[in-house]
Amino acid sequence: MTPMSAITLDSSLARAIRTTQSWRRRVTARPRAVRVIVDTVDWLMRAVSHVRRNRRYLTVTKLANIAVINLQFAMKRERVIGLPYRMKIESTNICNTNCQLCPTGQGLAGRAKGKMSRERYERLIDQLGRYLYALDLSMWGDPLIVPDIYHMIRYAHDRGIWTYVSSNLHALKPEKGQCEALVRSGLDVLTVSLHGATQGTFAIYQPGKDFEATVEKLRSILAARRRLKSTTPAIQLNFVVTRHNEHEVERFGAFADELGCKTVFSNPSLNTRFLDRDEDLEPLELTKAALTERTAAHLDQWLPRDERYVVEPYKLMRRYGQILWMSDDQAAFCFSPSVNVIPAITS
Ligand SMILES: C[S@@+](CC[C@H](N)C(=O)[O-])C[C@H]1O[C@@H](n2cnc3c(N)ncnc32)[C@H](O)[C@@H]1O
Repeated sequence: MTPMSAITLDSSLARAIRTTQSWRRRVTARPRAVRVIVDTVDWLMRAVSHVRRNRRYLTVTKLANIAVINLQFAMKRERVIGLPYRMKIESTNICNTNCQLCPTGQGLAGRAKGKMSRERYERLIDQLGRYLYALDLSMWGDPLIVPDIYHMIRYAHDRGIWTYVSSNLHALKPEKGQCEALVRSGLDVLTVSLHGATQGTFAIYQPGKDFEATVEKLRSILAARRRLKSTTPAIQLNFVVTRHNEHEVERFGAFADELGCKTVFSNPSLNTRFLDRDEDLEPLELTKAALTERTAAHLDQWLPRDERYVVEPYKLMRRYGQILWMSDDQAAFCFSPSVNVIPAITS
């Protein structure tokens, strides 16, 4: 049985995409005209869901910009007129926990660490704010580490932009009034990364971290929201389903219901592309047999048995024990033209 709260805040969008994606799979061998019709319906359903969700923030200028960009995307133009309408600005790539499947949590080498400066951020919003309808301030670090984060959210909110943040809450300091600051910032949606319904499963994914302390912070945000008589941020609790916690799906749903939060049960990303790399991302040059063995062990350790939470490439990897790369179709889906990433560090 699916728990009551297994309805994400974007449930209508998720439902729409599930339906149209299954149509798309079924018509791959059909004539081009049929595929074009299905693609168009897919696009329209996404568009309608986004417009419905963000109607408060849409203006004629934004809608015109979205239409012009999508038209050029459909025409496969390399150079486009228009500005980003949906963005991810990485407020920081510094993190304070060690999520076991996350490259940041595993300390893999990557870009230099840093936080987005207030000046640079304001400059970006001043330049693009008129065209942006949605902004996500999280990526590889934890946004609540950034002292200016409440100001940053407010700055975007005041300019008519829907705002989103995902956090593990470890950096949140309720005693310093940060729960009130978060609510007053006007943040629309907060995802809280938990991935466990008990200390045991919570600490398997984030070793050394305290489940009750995190839940206490979550309760403080909910209390601040009540005190300030605010309906935002809407809060959804994220549960990346793995082999270690899949038995807690029901319990997590009930726990979220009790708190009055929604849930997101996410398919895990296993970041298999790092299995043949060392910490500095240098190739390990494993033999095919060694890599196959490593992949199988990794999948066996983390991939849930329940295939509803397993994406297609991992199903194949589990079956054949090999690392597979994303198909062009999957890559095209991930790299939508409307998502622009501005990293905290640009050098
Ligand atoms: C990399 S985290 C960074 C943001 C923030 N530190 C947090 O924990 O929410 C971005 C999102 O990825 C999710 N996440 C973590 N591990 C994941 C995994 N293995 N597969 C899919 N999503 C994952 C987190 O719950 C979070 O919502």
